[in-house]
Amino acid sequence: MPELFLNPKPFQLRRIRSFVLRTGRVTAGQQRALDELWPRFGVNFSNHQLNLDELFSRNAPRMIEIGFGTGEALAAFAQAHPDMDCLGIEVHRAGVGHLLLQLETLSISTVRISSHDAVEVLTYQIPDASIDAIHIFFPDPWHKTRHHKRRLIQPAFADVMARVMKPEAALRLATDWQDYAEHIHTILDNHPEFTNIAGKNGVVARPDHRPMTRFERRGHRLGHGVWDMEYRRY
Ligand SMILES: C[S@@+](CC[C@H](N)C(=O)[O-])C[C@H]1O[C@@H](n2cnc3c(N)ncnc32)[C@H](O)[C@@H]1O
Repeated sequence: MPELFLNPKPFQLRRIRSFVLRTGRVTAGQQRALDELWPRFGVNFSNHQLNLDELFSRNAPRMIEIGFGTGEALAAFAQAHPDMDCLGIEVHRAGVGHLLLQLETLSISTVRISSHDAVEVLTYQIPDASIDAIHIFFPDPWHKTRHHKRRLIQPAFADVMARVMKPEAALRLATDWQDYAEHIHTILDNHPEFTNIAGKNGVVARPDHRPMTRFERRGHRLGHGVWDMEYRRY
């Protein structure tokens, strides 16, 4: 089993996490990808900052996608933007395996993957002002009021994102849960380093680069709306 899946105890600093680790079924293909492709694309967790030029073997604009699920949006973005480097972060092992398979099939070489809590990855491993865009599509909504503290978007995490983003970098989010859209507006529209490009409480059109995922199709079937938001870090 790759080292990253052994949760390194010394770094378990956050008590409230935005995810619950499901064991979930990993297919034989995903398992092979995890075994064979992780050494090429995987980024193990540590409490040291990464040298991103070394990691990607070049200096290029950089995008981080947090909670990529099965990785469709990330693979599509990487294919459409070969001039950019992409770091995908997802704790769900089957999803990591799924994206690894897509990288192999589509011969994508500009993506690296972390399978650790994104809050810790950004806090410990990503250097200041090094990222041009962050994508967070359909973060777990944590519907119940008593679970809202588990939501990924929190003032402290907004501070962390602001630190790693370059001036004028883009933060793109989508949710199918109106209450979470309002939660995002409350936190990010009032954050001193972020500006909503659509104006206070505004939403943007669905970006062309965001493909319809299985997850989103399910939301549509259930009659959910979708709110896309975009912020600049100033
Ligand atoms: C509702 S799913 C959406 C997946 C995908 N973005 C999509 O649109 O289909 C949210 C994903 O975020 C991941 N996630 C939640 N909190 C995370 C964290 N702190 N670090 C990394 N991944 C996280 C979950 O494992 C889950 O796969």
